[in-house]
Amino acid sequence: MPDGTLLATTGLRAGYGGKPVLQNVDLAVRRGEIVAVIGRNGVGKSTLMKTLMGLLPASAGSVTLEGRPIDGLPAHRRARLGVGYVPQGRDVFPRMTVEENLRVGEMLRNGPVPRADYDEIYASFPILAERRAQRAGTMSGGQQQQLAIARVLIGRPGLILLDEPSEGIQPSIVQEIGQRMVALNRATGLTIILVEQNLDMIRAMAQRCYVMDKGRIVAELDAEALSDRDTVRRYLAV
Ligand SMILES: Nc1ncnc2c1ncn2[C@@H]1O[C@H](COP(=O)(O)OP(=O)(O)OP(=O)(O)O)[C@@H](O)[C@H]1O
Ligand SMILES: [Mg+2]
Repeated sequence: MPDGTLLATTGLRAGYGGKPVLQNVDLAVRRGEIVAVIGRNGVGKSTLMKTLMGLLPASAGSVTLEGRPIDGLPAHRRARLGVGYVPQGRDVFPRMTVEENLRVGEMLRNGPVPRADYDEIYASFPILAERRAQRAGTMSGGQQQQLAIARVLIGRPGLILLDEPSEGIQPSIVQEIGQRMVALNRATGLTIILVEQNLDMIRAMAQRCYVMDKGRIVAELDAEALSDRDTVRRYLAV
């Protein structure tokens, strides 16, 4: 394991019932990195995120956090160790207000969350401050996505798993969310694993990227490869 590795998998396999999806996934993410996982629909990206979070059991292989195996730990225990997860499709509580949704995120903290933490989140996502008393279900997809991310950030994770944050969101908001996440990464050292198919989001955020196909990692792109639009576009079509 290279120095500074925060999360790593070796030989990870997982699936649904008798149906295998992940096949021997090996990856390693260093503390403070923003790493993307890309690939076509149905290749297993969300399955990988769920397995990292402990929402889906691995059938083989191992996940380590700071070098310590976390395979036996359910999702809420991983969350307490600082792993945050924003699922594909966001899943905010539609009938609860913005602030009430954020309070749900508080449950991951030991003890009360200082008001200053809310102020920080609201400074990062001003639209949420404006709409703090609005019911989440009445907001746009982009606003709900920001709320879903903010709700996880209130728990102060060291690592956040973002599953297709750009899905169904207009390009200007995609760009804004990307910039906010990069700013947070720079300011706090937050490590980010980003599942994406949106070329602009990948290039705006990721420093490195794994390409998945049929449950396997089939390529790894470094910063140089990522800087070339056509290269990334080609891999997105793998
Ligand atoms: N709950 C489930 N039960 C059974 N099979 C599932 C389940 N969720 C996903 N699958 C199957 O597992 C495979 C991988 O799905 P997964 O959702 O991980 O893909 P993905 O790369 O995230 O796709 P997308 O880009 O569309 O989100 C697909 O064949 C999918 O149909
Ligand atoms: Mg998915």
